[in-house]
Formats: sequence, C-alpha cells, structure tokens
Amino acid sequence: MKKLIALLIAAMALVGCSSAPAKPSETPAGTAGTTGGAAKEVNVGVSIYKFDDNFMTLYRNEIQSYFDSLSNDQVKYNVTIQDGKNDQAEQTNQIDNFIAQDYDVLIINLVQSTSAATVIEKCKEANKPCIFINREPSEEDMNMYRDADGKATDPYADMYTYVGADARQSGKFQGEIIADLENKGDLNGDGVLQYVMVVGDPENVDAKYRTEFSISQYKESSGLGVEKLDEQRGDWDQAKGQEIVANALTKYGDKVEVVFCNNDGMALGAAQAIAAANRTVGKDIYLVGVDALAEAVELVSTGGMTGTVLNDHIGQSHQAVDAAIKAVNGEKLDTYYWVDYVKVTPANAAEFK
Ligand code: GAL
Repeated sequence: MKKLIALLIAAMALVGCSSAPAKPSETPAGTAGTTGGAAKEVNVGVSIYKFDDNFMTLYRNEIQSYFDSLSNDQVKYNVTIQDGKNDQAEQTNQIDNFIAQDYDVLIINLVQSTSAATVIEKCKEANKPCIFINREPSEEDMNMYRDADGKATDPYADMYTYVGADARQSGKFQGEIIADLENKGDLNGDGVLQYVMVVGDPENVDAKYRTEFSISQYKESSGLGVEKLDEQRGDWDQAKGQEIVANALTKYGDKVEVVFCNNDGMALGAAQAIAAANRTVGKDIYLVGVDALAEAVELVSTGGMTGTVLNDHIGQSHQAVDAAIKAVNGEKLDTYYWVDYVKVTPANAAEFK
C-alpha cells in the first residue's frame, strides 16, 4: 500500500498537478504555441486612468469581453487590466511592470496625456507595441518618429497608435441639438442663449473641445448670440455636476436656459439639481451631455434630458483590441484610428437602449 501511495505521488509530480493559471511572465507570448498544439498565449497589459469612471468602466469591460470572444484553440488572450487610480506615478509603475514581465502589447488610457512621450520611449526601448485610448496624446508625441511628410524615421512609428473619437464632433453635436430646438433654446426670446457649462477633467482634450465646439457650433447653427453665466470644472463626476448646477441655479435662477455638460455623468448630477430646483427640462430649461450612458438615454427618452451624444465605447474598444492584435501579429499600425460620435435625441433614443 505504501508503495502504491509513493508511486501515485511520484506520478502526480511528473504530470504536475497545479491548476493555478500560469502568470504572464511564465508564458511570454511571442514564444507562441508551447507544445502539443497548445494555444498561443498573448499577454495584454491594460491600464485605465482610474476605475472609478462610468464611461471608462463600460469601455474596459468591453475590452475584456471582446478579447475573450476572440480567444480560441489557436490563440488565448490573457488580459490584465489595472487601475491607474488617477495617479501617473502609479500608472507608470504598472507600465514598467508590464514591460518587465514581457507582455506582448500595452493598451494605455493615460492619467496625464503629457506623459505620452515617456511611455512611448519606454515601449520603444522594449519593442512593445502600445495602443493609446481615450486620452489623446499631443500630435507632436503621436508623430515623434515621423518626418514632416509623415514618413517613419524609425520602425517604432508603426508600432503605436491612438484610438479615439474626435471630441470636436461631440461638442458640435451638443450645439446642434440645442440649435435644432424650435425656440433654439432661447426660452426668454432675447436672441441670446444664457448657459452654464460643466467642464470635465482638462487632462482629456475632450473637455476642452466639447466646451469650445458646443458653443461655436450653437452660434453657427442658430445664428443667435450666447452669454456664459457660469463655467466650472466637474472632473466628469456626477456629484460635482450636481453641486455646480445647484449653485448656478441658486445664483442665476430663471436666467439659465441651457446646461451643457461635457459628459453624462455630470449631466445626471445636473438633472438631479434641476429637479431639486423645481425646474423642468424641456419646459423651462434644457440639458445636454455626452456618452449615452444607459441612465442618460433613458432620461432623453422620457424628457429628463434634452439630448446626449453616443461616445461609442464598443466601437472604440473593439478598434483598440483589433489594433493590438494587428501589432502583435507584426502588422503596421496607422497613427490614428477614429470612431464616430452619434447624436441622441428623443427621436432616436430608443435605438440606443
Ligand atoms: C471622456 C468621457 C468621460 C470620461 C473621460 C475620461 O471621453 O466622455 O465621461 O470617461 O473620457 O477620460
């Protein structure tokens, strides 16, 4: 009997009885298909600027599920998604670790857009492709290894990219949604739109462009003037959006005709403040956001918001994943991949539910 047990133990040791998944560092991809037709393992390191963000939560979940849907007998995508905690030092550390552990490709939602150059240098040195998402690096950084004609001056130029949506478009759509109203949003009929602007975190140019282009487009489309009553930074955050709009309504009261929010998170907060001030969207005030979060689309269809703009997290995450796979397969990347925004109003809200 003792002999039998000893034999069994020896046999188990031979086949290896640990069921723990191999760490990426133990299965560097590139070293594709181990033995006996096992799937090639591709290790993907993702860092999100912070997990506590409505839109980026949808985005990162879709990155994971799209990679999962693409895993099969031939290739297995091991995706590690980390929380940058809105701290660039923390995120840089995560990137260093991905590189040290020989991950095959990085997908980075920068905490600080200005850190792009440092990240690009690190990835170039390690020869790791890098896909930037959501927070657009400067044009200069995206063209670090290209000459004035766009020709690559180093092979790494074709190994990194930015996948995103052009925030100017989302701003313009917000302006159009208001200008397309029968009264052009000009509730008091004085030929001037009195508005409050709730701005996102300026670390993302989305905040700058939405603030700027919503108003320039409104003026162009409506032919009316504008008067900015208030503009405050709400960092994409619902609670801050609520506070800013509550204060603005206390201070300016009925003068406020439109509240523009750079995203839906803040617009949901604004909707709460508007209700608390006994104002009614569509009747004595208008409210627009961006992202098309489920709650916001619901409000648009029931009249609690005038409109929003779809920030297509599915299109963007799939494009980012497709680019990552292309790069892992040694194909050249474009410098940019753009995904369109879409206007969401009561007329088409049902399509976005
Ligand atoms: C924007 C989005 C915001 C926020 C931000 C993070 O595109 O509209 O809700 O997620 O990205 O950088």
